[in-house]
Amino acid sequence: MNTAIEIKKNIYWLGVNDRRTHIFENYWPLPKGVAYNSYVIVDEKTVVLDTVERSRMDDYLESLEAVLAGRPVDYLVVNHMEPDHSGAIKSLLARYPDLTVIGNAKTFPMLENYYGVNHRLLEVKEGDTLNIGSRTLAFYMVPMLHWPETMVTYVPEDKLLFSADAFGSFGTLDGGIFDDQVDLDYLEEEISRYYSNIVGKYGMPAQAALKKLGGLPLEMICATHGPIWRTHIADIIARYDKWSKYETDEGVVIAFSSMYGHTEQMADLIGRFLAEQGIRKIRIHDTSKTHPSYIINDIFRYKGVILGSCAYNGGIFPTMDTLLCELENMGVKNHLLAYFGNKTWGGGAMPRFKAFAEKMKWEVVAEPDEATGAIKPSDIEQCKAIAEAMVKKLRE
Ligand code: FEO
Repeated sequence: MNTAIEIKKNIYWLGVNDRRTHIFENYWPLPKGVAYNSYVIVDEKTVVLDTVERSRMDDYLESLEAVLAGRPVDYLVVNHMEPDHSGAIKSLLARYPDLTVIGNAKTFPMLENYYGVNHRLLEVKEGDTLNIGSRTLAFYMVPMLHWPETMVTYVPEDKLLFSADAFGSFGTLDGGIFDDQVDLDYLEEEISRYYSNIVGKYGMPAQAALKKLGGLPLEMICATHGPIWRTHIADIIARYDKWSKYETDEGVVIAFSSMYGHTEQMADLIGRFLAEQGIRKIRIHDTSKTHPSYIINDIFRYKGVILGSCAYNGGIFPTMDTLLCELENMGVKNHLLAYFGNKTWGGGAMPRFKAFAEKMKWEVVAEPDEATGAIKPSDIEQCKAIAEAMVKKLRE
C-alpha cells in the first residue's frame, strides 16, 4: 500500500509508524511508539533523504516505488547514519543499484562498516550545493547532533529543512503528519523526552547548529521522527534553544529509592514542605518504578533536584545509581541539588551522592540527611530544612 503523503509539490513524506518496539535504542521506553520519517523529492533527479528502520522496509519500498512511478532513485542523502534511518540502505541499493549516496567524510566509513557500501559515493562539505533540476540541495554539517557525521539538507526554493533527528519526537503520527494536524498536547512529553534523552547530552552542538541555521528562511522542518513542523516552527526552535542552554523553570524533581518505605516518607515530607513554601512544580519519582528517561526529562525542565536513597549492601540503591550514571554521562548542567537517605546500620548512599555532586558541579544547597530507620522528629526537621534551603536558592 502506498502510504506516501505529498508535503510540497513533488516532495513526499515516506515515513512508517512503529507501534511494536517497546524500547528505542534498546533502552528508552516507547509508550506511544515512534515514527521513522524518510522523504523523497521527485525533480529532474529523484532524491531520497534518509530511510527507515529495517523492520518496516517492505512497506517503505512499496510506497517509494509508487511515488517514483517507474523512475529510479538517483540520489540517497544520508543525513544521519544511525540504523533507525540507515536500516533500509542495503535494500534500497539492491533495488536501485545505480543510485549515488550523498554523505560527508564522516558518513562513508560508517556506511562501509555497517553495510559494506563503498562505491558510488558523493562527498559533500559544509555549504556545498547540488542542483537536482528545479531545486537545489544545500548541505550543512551539524556534528554531534547527535552523531559525528550528522548533517542537514536545506532546499532554498521550498524553504524546507531536512533536519535529521533535530526537532524530532517519540510518538507515532496518528493520522496527521504536520504539527497542526496532530495533538501536540498528547505528544508534549514525547517531544521533550526525545530531546532530553537522545539529544540532551549535546547542548553545545545544538547551540552551534541553531546559530548556523538561524538565518535560513523556513517554511517546514522535516525531522526524521515526529511531526513535520510548519505552523509552530518558532516555538520548537525556541524550545531547542532553551533546552540546549540548560535553562529551567522553577520546580523541583525529587527522585528516591526506598526498600522499606522510610526514604519514600522522607521524599513525601520534603515534597510537602516544598508545596507549603509555594513550589507548584514538584515531581516525585520512585527510581524502582519510573524509567530514568522520564526523571531525566523532568530534570531538564526544573532547576531543583533532590535525591534520596536507602543504603544497599553498603552503597547506594542500584536504580538510583543507574539514574546518577545516566546524568553523569549526559553531563546535565545548571542545577541545584540536595540529597538524603536512610540506613539501618552503617549507611551507604551519601558518599555516592557526594561524588555525583562534585562530578556534576551542581550546587549542593543543604546539609545531607541520612536517617536511621523510622522517621523521627529530628528527621522531619531535617527534611524541612532541605526543602527550605532549596526554595531559598531557587528564588535567589
Ligand atoms: Fe533517529 Fe539518531 O537516530
